[in-house]
Formats: sequence, C-alpha cells, structure tokens
Amino acid sequence: MRMRSKTAIITGAATGLKGEIRGIGGATAWAFVREGATVYLADINDELGERTAAQIRETGGSAHYVHLDVTDEALWQNTIDSIVKAEGALDVLVNNAGTGRDYDGDYTDPDGPQNAEEALKVEFTTVEGLDRQLGVHVRGAMLGMKYAIPEMRKRGGGSIINVSSIHGIVGVDTITSYSTAKAGMRHMSKTVAIQYASENIRVNSVHPGYTKTPAALPLFTDPELYADRTSQIPMGRYAESEEIANSILFLASDESSYITGAELVIDGGHNAQ
Ligand code: NAI
Repeated sequence: MRMRSKTAIITGAATGLKGEIRGIGGATAWAFVREGATVYLADINDELGERTAAQIRETGGSAHYVHLDVTDEALWQNTIDSIVKAEGALDVLVNNAGTGRDYDGDYTDPDGPQNAEEALKVEFTTVEGLDRQLGVHVRGAMLGMKYAIPEMRKRGGGSIINVSSIHGIVGVDTITSYSTAKAGMRHMSKTVAIQYASENIRVNSVHPGYTKTPAALPLFTDPELYADRTSQIPMGRYAESEEIANSILFLASDESSYITGAELVIDGGHNAQ
C-alpha cells in the first residue's frame, strides 16, 4: 500500500484493458490502484478509458475516467477542480499523454517525403505537426502542472512525473518534432522542480526506451524492425509497459521523497552506450 490515501491523475491512461497490451498510462493506473491510490484516468479516447476504469473498479480498485484533451486549458482547470471537490485533494500528477507520428501523407507528392524515414526529417516537418507535438507534450504538461500545483500546495506537497523519452535526452534519427517536444518536457521538469522544491512538490521526468504499447505496435510487430531496434539495446528487448509503470510508481510514492529534478532512464541500457 505504497500509495495509500493518495489521489492521482494520469493523462493518456485509456489504454489499460486487462489481457491486452497496455499503454504506459494504463499500466500505471493499475499499479497505483494496486498500491491503494484513487486514480483518475484522463484521455480523449472516452470509450476505452471508461472500459479500463470499469475493469479496475471490478477488481475493487478506486478508478474514474475523465475526458481531458491535455491541450485544453479550460478542461484542465475544470478537471482538477472536480477531482479536488470529489476527493478533497490531489497528490500525484502523471503527464503521460502522447502522440507519435506527425505526418499523415501517403508519400505520393513529388515535393513531399518519399518514405517514412524521410518524413521524420526537418525538411518535411510541418508547422502543424510541430505545433501538435509541442501541444500534447509541452503545453499539456505545462497546463497540468499549472493547475495541479496549487492543490498540492494545500496538501503540503505532491509528486509530478512527466513522461518524456530517451529521445528527449540524446539526438537520434527520429521524428524531429517529437524529440524536440520530449526534450522540452525534460527541461521544464527541472525548472519547475527547482521552483517548488521548498514546498515539497517534487517534479521528475522518466525516459522510457522502446516499450510495447498500443502506440508503438508497428515497432514490435514487424519482426525485421524489432530485430533491428533490439540489436541496439544491451538487454536485447523492448520494455513492457508495466516496467515503466513501476518506475513511475516509485517516483509517485513517498519512497522517492528526496528525489526532485531528476531524470530516470528506463531503457535496458540503450542510452548508456
Ligand atoms: P498509448 O498507446 O497509451 O497511447 C497514448 C495515449 O495518449 C492514448 O490513449 C491517446 O488517446 C492519449 N492521448 C493522445 N493525445 C491526447 C490528448 N491531446 N489528450 C489526452 N490524451 C491524449 O501510448 P504509450 O506508448 O504508452 O505512450 C505513453 C507516453 O510514453 C507518451 O508520452 C509517449 O510519447 C511516451 N513514450 C513511449 C514510448 C514507447 O516506446 N511506447 C517510448 C518513450 C516514451
């Protein structure tokens, strides 16, 4: 019961059905509930989010689904208000919502990217794509912290975990706007951590490597791609979403009470090379 009497909100947490490949947010919801927390799963995929929350409740856990587009400031404000009205407090925020691809074309435009590799490059990055990535990852995390922190202050402390990526730390040949947004989350975490450390509000970022989640499906269902990617990982495999969730759980719980402004890399040794 490492999360007893704590209330948490996790964004991008709809993908958590039992018996299916779970997203990091969905797996984190199960881990928090297992340890006694009341969890609010926030997402834009309402149907899946409601089903995941219902499954958690069926096992006796305390879970609720809320519709929240993390780019919407008014929705953030309302969501945090209603959680605090219902539970009396907010202790933990996990900014996990994420979006991968930002190019939706079919590679037939002679002036556009000719394949998926090219579409990652800055020459083919669109302003809309960049804004979408910065919106979900940077603006979303900023708004979450902006509205959660005043409530955490009333409680005498809190823990915020921002889900970045190994691609937010090192330069890699990946989607330009994604890695830029993830690097933004990493730096914002440290800045906010310093601002609120004296109030016992801790802010840390986690940096998963390749993880088996619904969003990353093509990266591990294609055997050639999987073999190529895992050949670069010292542990020789992708992470399970539960392995990322356990690290987030540690940072959310009081076991990490002296950790703030830190970054936890969870990547099977990928970035250590
Ligand atoms: P996932 O498969 O759970 O999908 C992401 C979830 O975010 C979906 O439920 C989606 O509906 C939700 N979402 C998207 N836009 C949203 C918005 N505007 N407002 C609210 N919810 C929104 O994803 P996964 O792979 O578990 O990713 C979770 C986080 O982990 C993301 O931030 C991702 O960038 C990060 N990550 C994932 C890695 C991987 O290999 N799967 C590696 C490193 C980081």
